[in-house]
Amino acid sequence: MSALTLSSSSAATLRADAVVVGVAKGPDGPVVAPGGETLDQAFGGSLAGVLETLGASGGEGEVTKLPAPDGVKADLVLAVGLGDAPEGDGPYEPEALRRAAGAAARALAGRKKAGFALPAGDEASLAAVCEGALLGAYSFTEYRGKEDRNAKGGKGASKGKKGRDGKGGDGDRSAPLAEVTVLGAKPRDKAHKAAAERAEVLAAEVNRARDLVNTPSNDLFPKSFAAAVQSAAKEHGLTVEVLDEKALAKGGYGGIIGVGQGSANPPRLVRLSYTHSKAKKTLALVGKGITYDSGGISLKPAGHNETMKCDMSGAAAVFAAVVAAARLGLRVNVTGWLALAENMPSGTATRPGDVLTMYSGKTVEVLNTDAEGRLVLADALTRACEEKPDAVVDVATLTGAMMLALGGRTFGVMANDDAFRTAVHDSATEVGEPSWPMPLPGHLRKGMDSPIADIANMGERMGGGLVAGLFLKEFVAEGTAWAHLDIAGPAFNESGPFGYTPKGGTGCAVRTLVRLAERAAAGDVL
Ligand code: BES
Ligand code: MN
Ligand code: ZN
Repeated sequence: MSALTLSSSSAATLRADAVVVGVAKGPDGPVVAPGGETLDQAFGGSLAGVLETLGASGGEGEVTKLPAPDGVKADLVLAVGLGDAPEGDGPYEPEALRRAAGAAARALAGRKKAGFALPAGDEASLAAVCEGALLGAYSFTEYRGKEDRNAKGGKGASKGKKGRDGKGGDGDRSAPLAEVTVLGAKPRDKAHKAAAERAEVLAAEVNRARDLVNTPSNDLFPKSFAAAVQSAAKEHGLTVEVLDEKALAKGGYGGIIGVGQGSANPPRLVRLSYTHSKAKKTLALVGKGITYDSGGISLKPAGHNETMKCDMSGAAAVFAAVVAAARLGLRVNVTGWLALAENMPSGTATRPGDVLTMYSGKTVEVLNTDAEGRLVLADALTRACEEKPDAVVDVATLTGAMMLALGGRTFGVMANDDAFRTAVHDSATEVGEPSWPMPLPGHLRKGMDSPIADIANMGERMGGGLVAGLFLKEFVAEGTAWAHLDIAGPAFNESGPFGYTPKGGTGCAVRTLVRLAERAAAGDVL
């Protein structure tokens, strides 16, 4: 990850490859946002006018590059659009700052050091700029050829040398911006330091989840995923327990075994726990970890399986959130449950029509082996509830139906408790992760009636995301507050990058879960 430094230097005096300034959409054209005053002075007070001449409006994510004028120590000035200027003298929305900082960091890929002269006077703004810049300065280079991976940018690239994609060095393939310096901060101030440190932990853990999601399924399978958890647990002093296929069979985890039995890579259930000696609450997090979803015997058609390495995004988010809670030392216990399996067709695979006996003892008729996520989650939810946590949250790339309903950037939130659903939705909103509450209409349950088992793993096609939620609800203990996050849309970005969100794995839900844990620690929820 990029290095982060706070500095009280002004935008004009920092020695760097570039300095970033915010520009907002004012009523009469672009306006320079707070933080950019000394830069504007170096332009003789005409920076907004220069930008307007260049066609800039201050619109969200707009990037304009200018050669630095005399009196500015950086080589390049990058103006990034913040969207509409806030009313009066009000502060900018943290999410607007996060996105602008992210867009600027992306546009500076290939360069070594940049100063961010965005509004960062108050802690919330400072935190947002730090977070956005670090999240935007991400790239997944693990699978690039040696030559490409080592193309570090630096001097050559800062002169606009073309990257291998021929897009002028700013394309995806340049190394991410190496050093982020946030200006206008108080580097020795306790609160400012804490805000920067929190941003570093959050970004590192979101990036951990992104890396896992981006790792192809030939390298990331249940056993290797569990090994990654074990190594992080060791590093951060967490307790980890891994159930392998033998232990799962012995323990009666029929859902996880049933989904994983078709693959040469057997399943795992991982329990990762962080405890705080003064914790009053315990939050259980359950993640869908299908390291590859081929659909199984109900095979997905070509065109629907190319990105299915992303089907472990829920488990990645849970893993990263538990580590983040530990690194932040939150006064709350957080237990992560990762239900890991590879859904493959083979002679040993579960057939459509087979009946599984789940960990809870309930029987499930598997009508469609592509509705596998709910099967592994059901076992993990039942197991998680045995420990009587104060609340359980599951996170899953569960249904294409939720994508159809909410699009590619918003996740659905369902729950058995209205107040808890609101708490989850509000936590997501606070950190800038779009989500929306969805209902669990009881009448859809009868569509899952099975003539031979307690329930079928499929129901009505209409409202498929809610049907999946209703299925999961059956495996949550009575009286335990539970929320279900269907992140099928936002977990994996198939279009172009935007703001601080890269193409590919996004790390969706990590920051929401951490925020929820923080609120639980503060006694605001549960
Ligand atoms: N992993 C998929 C859902 C998914 C689809 C995630 C697209 C991300 C992008 C899930 O296992 C699945 O296949 N769901 C089926 C359920 C159906 C068979 C009831 C679906 O949504 O089509
Ligand atoms: Mn599936
Ligand atoms: Zn799936």
